[in-house]
Amino acid sequence: MMKFNTKTIHGGQTHDPAYGAVMPPIYQTSTYAQTTPGGHKGFEYSRTHNPTRKALENALASIENGTYGLAFASGLAAIDAVMKLLKPGDEVISTNDLYGGTYRLFTKIFQDFGITFHFVGMQDVKAIEERINANTKLIWVETPTNPMMNIIDIQACAAIAKKHNLLLAVDNTFATPYLQQPLDFGADIVMHSATKYLGGHSDVVMGALIVNDNALAEKLYFIQNASGAVSGPQDSFLVLRGIKTLHVRMQRHCENGKAIAEFLQKHPKVEKVFWPGLKNHPNHKIAKAQMKDFGGMVSFTTKDNNYKDAIKTVERLKVFTLAESLGGVESLAGHPASMTHASIPKLEREKTGVLDSLIRLSVGIEDIDDLIADLEQALA
Ligand SMILES: Cc1ncc(COP(=O)(O)O)c(C=O)c1O
Repeated sequence: MMKFNTKTIHGGQTHDPAYGAVMPPIYQTSTYAQTTPGGHKGFEYSRTHNPTRKALENALASIENGTYGLAFASGLAAIDAVMKLLKPGDEVISTNDLYGGTYRLFTKIFQDFGITFHFVGMQDVKAIEERINANTKLIWVETPTNPMMNIIDIQACAAIAKKHNLLLAVDNTFATPYLQQPLDFGADIVMHSATKYLGGHSDVVMGALIVNDNALAEKLYFIQNASGAVSGPQDSFLVLRGIKTLHVRMQRHCENGKAIAEFLQKHPKVEKVFWPGLKNHPNHKIAKAQMKDFGGMVSFTTKDNNYKDAIKTVERLKVFTLAESLGGVESLAGHPASMTHASIPKLEREKTGVLDSLIRLSVGIEDIDDLIADLEQALA
């Protein structure tokens, strides 16, 4: 079996049968000629199948050590497809510290279709079992979490899911398969906002699911085609190209993330640094056991915990760009209290650690000296 750094480049790939193109062409077509009704080469209509998307889906399956990959128009479209496995009356147990858009999809869309969601802190997995009843169907995990970088023990969640015959889905956006492969720990579904590290260049919005089980794959392919939120051929090409350098980019994201976390920890104005590689991170041991390294996402608070000062700090940044999103080659900074979490009442957001001074960094792959100098001047 190929090693990970080979799979990112060759996993599930064959040279194009038409002319031997090394990269799959962008098959920008909606339909395919048939010689007689049903007489086609495996492709009938591009919502159902497209050769460029297929090449990407094979790559996705390969890098996550899965059997089946599915590409969607966005990360949220991928989550939407998972939720359509459920029926009214079903219940979901989800981590309480998760991407706000996922929370919105659960509570503002699927709750109205009769699905019940329980949000629990999963850093201690015992909290999950307390919420399981006869209607529970799915456990939804995100690790590391956004923006607090909490770590959830995937193997322990899988043991609970198996014991109670539930599906376990893991949002692997922050970690990527370079750092952790949830299917190997017993998860049933891996989900990605491929917009982030898989694409890696902040130029595409896309989602992905990867599974092993045949019957589950069949249901999800049915939903993918029936609901229709598929990724287009151009975007599929871009993410496939991104995946080819995933391992090289992630290695540098991790190196730079570590250097920044250590720099911030020593900075006199910084109160607390949230990065799972730090020994004082509350779930460092689990992170060390389930992740190969600790990634490039770093959050921190400052000693004064002042809202306005935090905004001034992010405004002063020059190499880091103040922007939503993460996982691209360029460093980004965000202020959750005024950006991603602005709609959550102050008291509520502070309960999960999103303080006024919290700044979240997506550490890119630029020269580390320039990144540190930029933070130094912004914090001065
Ligand atoms: C952890 C996580 N999951 C899911 C999503 C949603 O993905 P998309 O924006 O591609 O729909 C995001 C996007 O920020 C994310 O960070």
